[in-house]
Amino acid sequence: MHQDMRQIVCLFVVITLLLPACREESVNQSEPTGSMLRQPTPAAQVSEPMPLPKTGAGSFENLVADYESKDRGIWQKPNMVISLLGDLEGKTVADIGAGTGYFTFRMVPRAKKVIGIDIDKRFINFMDSVRVRLDDRYRNRFETRLAKADNPLLKPEEVDAAVMVNTYGYIEHRVQYLKTLWKGISPGGEVLIIDFKKNNLPVGPPDEYKVAIGQVQRELLEAGFSIDKIDQAALDYQYIVLAQKPLKPQKNSN
Ligand SMILES: C[S@@+](CC[C@H](N)C(=O)[O-])C[C@H]1O[C@@H](n2cnc3c(N)ncnc32)[C@H](O)[C@@H]1O
Repeated sequence: MHQDMRQIVCLFVVITLLLPACREESVNQSEPTGSMLRQPTPAAQVSEPMPLPKTGAGSFENLVADYESKDRGIWQKPNMVISLLGDLEGKTVADIGAGTGYFTFRMVPRAKKVIGIDIDKRFINFMDSVRVRLDDRYRNRFETRLAKADNPLLKPEEVDAAVMVNTYGYIEHRVQYLKTLWKGISPGGEVLIIDFKKNNLPVGPPDEYKVAIGQVQRELLEAGFSIDKIDQAALDYQYIVLAQKPLKPQKNSN
C-alpha cells in the first residue's frame, strides 16, 4: 500500500479507538489497585541516566500501532492508572510524553483541562487531528504543547498534576528536568510516573534502557518532591510512583 494511504488508514484506526475513550466518563473501579506503600527514603546522590535511543527509530506508523495496540488495555489498565490521581474535576493535568494521547484522551472527560505535551511534532499533529473530531464539550478542555527535551514548557503553577507514562527513561538530566517541572505544578500537586520494570519483559524497551524504581524515587526527592505512593504490584510490567509537590514552600535549588 502507498505510504500516504497507510498513514491515513493507521490514523483512522487509532482515532476510531481513541474517540470512545473520550466518551468514557466513569472510572472503572473493578481494576485492582494493588498495594501502596509509603517510602520515606532520604534523598541520595543521584547519577544521571544512560539516555535512551531517540524515539522515532521505527516508522511513525509502527510507533502509533505500538502505543495504541489492542492488547495494551489488558496490561496498562488505564482507568486504574488515572484513578490514582483522584477526582480530576476542576483540575488541570499535563501528560508529558503524551505520544498518541493514550492517557491524554482518557483524562479529558474527567478533568478541567488536559495538556498533551511532547517533543515530537508528529505526535502533536496526531493529537491535534484527534482534537478536531472531539465532541464540542471536550474540545476546549484539551490542548497540545510542543515542548523542549529539557523543559515541558509549563507556566508557573499551571497544572495540578503531571503524568509521565513510559516516558521518564527518555528524559536526559532528569533531576534538572524534575526541578523545572516542579515550578509548573501547583503546591500540593502531583506527579505520576509509570515505567517498565526490569526483567526482560514481553513489552517495553530492553532492560539497559529502563530506570529502576529506586532511582526514580531518589531523583524525585532530590528535585524537591515527596513520595506519596509506590506500587510494583498493580501492573504486571510497570511500576507506579506517585509524588507530590509539598504544600508548604521547600528548598528547590534550581
Ligand atoms: C514510549 S512513548 C509513550 C507515549 C504515551 N505516554 C503512552 O504511554 O502511550 C514516549 C513519548 O515521550 C516523548 N518524549 C521523549 N522525550 C521527551 C521529553 N524530553 N519531553 C517530552 N516528551 C518526550 C516521545 O516523543 C514519545 O511520544
